[in-house]
Order: sequence, then structure tokens, then C-alpha cells
Amino acid sequence: MVKKLKNKLPKKIFIKTFGCQMNEYDSNRILSFAKNLNYNSTENISEADCYVLNTCHIREKSTEKVYHDVGRVKKVFRNRKKPILLVNGCVAQAEGAEMLKRESYIDAVVGPQSYHKIPEIIEKMEKRKFKINETDFNVIEKFDKLNLIKNEESKISSFLTIQEGCDKFCNFCVVPYTRGPEFSRSYKEIILEAEQLVHNGVREITLLGQNVNAYKNENYRLSDLIKKLNTFKDLRRIRYTTSHPKDMTPDLIKVHGSCEKLMPILHLPVQSGSSQILKKMNRKHNIDQYLKIISELKKSNPFLKFSSDFIIGYPGETDNDFLDTINLMKRIKFINSYSFIYSPRPGTPASKLTQINKETSKKRLEQFQKISEEIKIKYRQELLNKEIKVLFENKIKGTNKIFGRDQYMNAVVVNGSLSLVGKEEKVLVQNFNSGTLFGKVYYSNLVEAS
Ligand code: SAH
Ligand code: SF4
Ligand code: F3S
Repeated sequence: MVKKLKNKLPKKIFIKTFGCQMNEYDSNRILSFAKNLNYNSTENISEADCYVLNTCHIREKSTEKVYHDVGRVKKVFRNRKKPILLVNGCVAQAEGAEMLKRESYIDAVVGPQSYHKIPEIIEKMEKRKFKINETDFNVIEKFDKLNLIKNEESKISSFLTIQEGCDKFCNFCVVPYTRGPEFSRSYKEIILEAEQLVHNGVREITLLGQNVNAYKNENYRLSDLIKKLNTFKDLRRIRYTTSHPKDMTPDLIKVHGSCEKLMPILHLPVQSGSSQILKKMNRKHNIDQYLKIISELKKSNPFLKFSSDFIIGYPGETDNDFLDTINLMKRIKFINSYSFIYSPRPGTPASKLTQINKETSKKRLEQFQKISEEIKIKYRQELLNKEIKVLFENKIKGTNKIFGRDQYMNAVVVNGSLSLVGKEEKVLVQNFNSGTLFGKVYYSNLVEAS
């Protein structure tokens, strides 16, 4: 009897996630799989029976980070039975075989299109049979498997992957190689998963894809999914990310004006303000086209604001090209921007080009980030003493503070009680720092949908 009970004790899984929101979604799904195998999640490495590293390969040192983390686990378990150690994600896809050779502590490498096989792999590993390399592109099989396992995510704000992969082949980027070609999930399955999420208590859904606006399943486009989600009674907010400018089609631009639950911020990576550099990057859009899309989107919803990604110091970037990037930043006034120095990625066309001087890139990045920060601060200053709408997500541990986000994704913190969580309230902005707005709820008579 005692033995039986002991067998039923849940084991512990530790999942560490790097990279984009798609990896976050994947990690959540890996956890759902593991729960079916009697694993609970832990945040304490030393009690892990299974350790999963969900990796990102987008910029340099990603592989080194993985070895570093494996080293840490090794140290923690120095005199003990090692946990099952799986490396998943984009580094596993790109460097899987090499990793298994170089680091014997790793039991299996699993590419992003094969993580539905993790239960099977864990079961094999529990018997400690052999090393496993699962890096095929089985995207259809993966989503078929995922559809069978309920998404138990019950956070207020959740991700839902609708599309994967990339056919664009920007010259700097590894994603087409690590995630494979573009694939769109079935419309029906996505709607079922969204219904499940809302049933679980989710109030905000972010539709995800490496090129989310390239979504196409039968005749359904992203705009159809948004229109459908907009009719869900208990869902309050819809977002989608990441979009490619080339796929901002008129139907999608239109829903920004017609679907009130679609939030008025769009992440639309531009990468550079110079059409000459965009051409060298193989971005498939130039600056005039980008500006035209922004202006059409603004016509559709005048409240729309934008955030973007920038690569600084791309091979061939001249002072003038860089100036164009700064001018674009000043013109659009992106309220959030993610900027990095160009990082040559093995196997990509741009890695073979003559690189520009590192110091020049560093200086340009500093200058660019200073300007984007000034724009952000000015935007935040203008919010002072104004009213914003906040969807509250969680209580901050050990405080009486509640965390939420306004419609523009700004992080907001107020004093309040747990009853705010899941509600959307008007907040008066009283203060801010570079990461967060602080304020007070001043209407709390909104009735929350059950
Ligand atoms: N699909 C999205 C972006 C995916 S990758 C798009 O088309 O924009 C996320 C971001 O990482 C990119 O927008 C880019 O700014 C950055 N990035 C990708 N490869 C990079 C590289 N080699 N060096 C520096 N930044 C890179
Ligand atoms: Fe990478 Fe370009 Fe594809 Fe975005 S569109 S994932 S930047 S190749
Ligand atoms: Fe990184 Fe792969 Fe996402 S390389 S950004 S985890 S698609």
C-alpha cells in the first residue's frame, strides 16, 4: 500500500525558457504534457527530476548559454542522481547533434516541431536507454497531438500559437532554419482552444506566430480569427504578434477599426529606417511601403500606436543609413522598441558579408537607444494624470500591489486587493519609471463578466 502511494507521488519538472513568446507558449504546452505523466512544475532546480531548457538561437552566445546552464545543473546534482535533461527549442534544432556529442549530461535534444514527443522521450529516459535527437519538422503531427491535450492555461493573459515558421528568409535571421516553413493551424482547432482558454478564466488572448499575419488556413485569414474572437462574451482583449509588414493586408488593417477588443497597439518590426539596408536584408518591404501601411492603419484606428524591432550595425550600414533609422524612430514615435546590434548567425547569408566596426555599432546602438528612451519617457509623461484602462493580471507576491497592463501593453501597478485580478478598470496615472506606470483605480463599479 505504502509503495503504491509512493509511486503516485508527483515528480518535478523545471522548465527554463529563453527567447520569444512562441517559446513561452511551447513551454506551457510541455508542462501540460508533463502533468499527464504525473509531473508538477518546480522553480527549484535541486528538486527537479526532469530539467528542460527551451532555447533561443536568435543572437550570439545562445549555444554557450545552454552549456553554461547545463553546467549549473551538473553542479547542483554533483553527488546525486542526475535529472533527465532535455534541450528543446531553436538551439536544439540548429545544433542538436553537436550538443549531444559535446555534452554527455544532455539526454535528448528536441526541436521546436517535435516537442509533442517529449512524453515519449521522458518515459524512455526514465528507463535511461539511450540518447535521443528529435529534430525533424513534424509540424502537422505536433499540432494534432497538441489538439488532444487541453490547454490548461488559466492566467488572465495567455498566448495561443496559430502559425509557425517563416518563408521570408531575411538575410540575417535563423528562424526559417530553426522553425521551418510557414504553417497555419486549423481555424476550428484554434477557436476550440480559445474557447477552452476563456472557459479557464483567460480574459486576454495574444495570437502568436513567427509571421502571425501570414496566417492562412483554407480561406480563413488572421482577420477572420480576430472577428470571431471579438464575439466571445467573456474575452476582453485580443492582440497578435509578430507581424511582417508585407502581410498587413487590407482585411487585417480594417479589423483594427471594427473590432473593439483588438488592442490599439501593433508590434510591426521594421529593422532599419533605410530602404537600402532593407534591401540588403531581403526584408521585402521598403520605407515608403512601411510608412504607407502605418498611415492606413492609423486611418482605420486613429488611436493606434506602434512598437518595433531594430537591427543596428547591419553589414554595409553607413552613417546616413543609421540617420534614416533615427529619423524613422522620431517620425513614428514607437512607444516601445527592441534594438540589438547585428549578430552574425551561422549559415545565414549576411554572416558572410564584411561586418562593420564593432565600436561603431556600439556607439550607434547607444545613440539609438537614448533617443528611443527619450521618446518613451515623453510619451509616459503625457500619460500623467490621465485615465487609462487596465486589465489586472496578478497580485505581486508579498505586497498589496496588483499588476496589470493598459491597452498599449504598458505595465501598470496599483495598490489594491486580489478581487481586482481579472477585471478591467480605469486607472489614474500618478507616476512612472522606465518600465512601469503607477496609479490608482478610481472607478471600481465595473461588473466583471462571469
Ligand atoms: N518575424 C519577426 C521577427 C522574429 S525575430 C519579423 O519579421 O520581424 C525577432 C527579432 O530579432 C527581429 O525582429 C530582429 O530585430 C532580431 N534579430 C533577428 N536576427 C537577428 C540577428 N542576426 N542579429 C540581431 N538581431 C536579430
Ligand atoms: Fe526572421 Fe525575417 Fe522570418 Fe522575421 S520575417 S522570422 S526576421 S526571416
Ligand atoms: Fe528565438 Fe527561436 Fe523564437 S530563435 S526568437 S526562440 S523562434
